[in-house]
Amino acid sequence: MNKFYITTPIYYPSNKLTLGNCYTTVVCDGLARFNRMLNKDVFYLTGTDEHGQKIQKKAQAEGKSEMAYLNEIVADTKELWKMLDISYDKFIRTTDDYHVAAVQKMFKLLYDKGQIYKSTYKGLYCTPCESFWTEEQLVDGKCPDCGRAVEPMEEEAYFFRLSEYQDKIKNLLQNTDFLRPKTRVNEMINNFINPGLKDLCVSRTSVKWGVPVDFDPKHTIYVWIDALPNYLTALGYLQEDNAKFKKFWPADVHVVGKEIVRFHSIIWPAILMALDLPLPKQIYGHGWLLFGNDKLSKSKETGKKEVIDPRILVGRYGLDAVRLFLTKEIMFGQDGPYNQELFLNAYNTNLANEYGNLVSRTCGMAQKYLGGVLNPAGDLQAADKTLMSEILNRRKFVLDQVEDINPSGAINTIFEMFSLCNKYIDETAPWAEFKAGNTQRINTILTTLSEAILISNTLLLPFLTDKPKTIYANWGLKTPTLLNEYSAFGFIKPNTQVTKGENLYNRLDIAKEIEELNKIANE
Ligand code: MSP
Repeated sequence: MNKFYITTPIYYPSNKLTLGNCYTTVVCDGLARFNRMLNKDVFYLTGTDEHGQKIQKKAQAEGKSEMAYLNEIVADTKELWKMLDISYDKFIRTTDDYHVAAVQKMFKLLYDKGQIYKSTYKGLYCTPCESFWTEEQLVDGKCPDCGRAVEPMEEEAYFFRLSEYQDKIKNLLQNTDFLRPKTRVNEMINNFINPGLKDLCVSRTSVKWGVPVDFDPKHTIYVWIDALPNYLTALGYLQEDNAKFKKFWPADVHVVGKEIVRFHSIIWPAILMALDLPLPKQIYGHGWLLFGNDKLSKSKETGKKEVIDPRILVGRYGLDAVRLFLTKEIMFGQDGPYNQELFLNAYNTNLANEYGNLVSRTCGMAQKYLGGVLNPAGDLQAADKTLMSEILNRRKFVLDQVEDINPSGAINTIFEMFSLCNKYIDETAPWAEFKAGNTQRINTILTTLSEAILISNTLLLPFLTDKPKTIYANWGLKTPTLLNEYSAFGFIKPNTQVTKGENLYNRLDIAKEIEELNKIANE
C-alpha cells in the first residue's frame, strides 16, 4: 500500500521544549511532507509522555494539579509546532482516555498470555524522592536527584518476560535493517544483549501518577509500557474504531534520539512480538544537537549562554532558517554542534547567498536582458545539457535519499543543485551575450536556468516551508503540491512574464547579530 507512517518520540512535558527537542520533529516533518508530495497516504504522529513521578513533582512544586500543569506545557508545545509549521496528523497525550484504556487492555492481554507476571522488585530506594534507582544510576553512591543516601528496598511489581526474546532480538538487530544507522547495532548487542536481557519491571506501587493496572489498581504501569504503545493506540489499536491501525501499522519508521534507541530496538519489538503484532519497519536512532559537549537537554545547565530558544530564532530569522539548520547542518545519524555563529553562517551562506540571491539574480537578468519575457529554450549547448543532466541526476538522488531516510543528505543535495545553477551563470555569462546582442542565447540560458531552479525548488518545499513556496509566482506559475510537477525540463511556455518578487532573505551582519543574541541570552 502506498502509505507512510512516521513517528517522533513523545516528549516529556517537564519543561518548555528547546531547540534540541525540535530536532526530531522538524526532521520528521520534512520526511512526512516529502512523502505526501510523493502522493503517499501519510500519517505523522507526535505527542507528549505525561505520566511519572517527575511530572507529579513538577506540578506540586508549581502548586498546580497535574492536569493543569500539563495542559499549559502541552498548549505551549502545540504553539511551538505551529510556529515551526509542523504538519502532524495526530498529537497523542498519554493522559488521553483512549490511550489509558488501550494500555490497560494491552497490559491485561500480556498478563493473560503469561508474558507479564507478578514478582518482587528489588532496588535502591530514596525515601524523600520516593524513587527506586539501580546501582549504575547512583551518583557517588547517592540519589542522583537529591544527593541523599539510598537504601535497599523491595516492592511487589509486575514483570515482562523480556529475557525470552534474547535470541529473536539479537537476530533482528544483527540480520535485518531494523535498526539504523548500523553503527548503533553493535552498541546494542555488546552493551545490552550479550550481557543477557533480564525481565523488565513494568509496574510500580510507589508511583501514583500513571495508568493503573485495572485488575490490580495499587499498581501503576511503569514508563515504557505506557509510553511505547502510543505508536499503536494513536491509530486505534484495541479500540472500537481501528481503521487507521489496519491501514497504517506497522510504522515505516520510528525516529528517535540515540539515548532511547535501547527502548525502541530491544523492548519495543519484544512487546510487539509478545502481542503477535508486526514490527515497525525501521527504528532510526539520530544523534544529538550538541551545545559544547552537552546535549541541549531541558534539565541540564549548558554553561556559556547562547540563544537556544527556537521561538526567538524563528522570530528573528524566520522559519526557514531554523528548519534549514536542523535538517541540513547536522548529518542525520550523527551528533552535530550548534552555536549562534554556525546558525547565522548557515543562514547567510545557504539562504541569502546560494539560494535567495540565485532566484533574484535570475529573475533580475530576465527583466534586464529580455524585458521580463521568457520563451522555451532554443538550441542547447554543452553547458546547458550538462546542467540539465546534473540536475535530473541529483533530483533522482534526492528521491533515493528520502526513501533511505536520509533527510540531511537530501537537503544537501538540493543545495548542490543551487550551487550548480550559480556555476552555470558564471560559465554562460549572460551579460556577455547581452553585450554581443545574442538575445536568443540569453533566452535559452535563462529559461534553462529558471527551470533548473524550479525543479530543485520543488524538492525543497517539504523541508523549508516558508519562502520557497512563494517563488513560482515570479514566473507566473502555480506552486506545486506533488513532486511529479516541475520534474523535467521544458515547462516554461512561450511568453512567460517574469517578475522579480520580494527579496527572500536579507543578508545578516553576523558580528552584529551575535552581539544582539548575546544580549538576549544574558537578559
Ligand atoms: N518520553 C521519552 C520518549 C518516549 S517515546 C515512546 C523521552 N522524552 S524526552 O523529552 O526526554 O526526549 C525526547 C526526544 O528529544 C529524544 O529522542 C531525545 O533524543 C530528543 N532530544 C533532546 N535533546 C536533544 C538534542 N540536543 N538533540 C537531538 N535530540 C534531542 O525520552
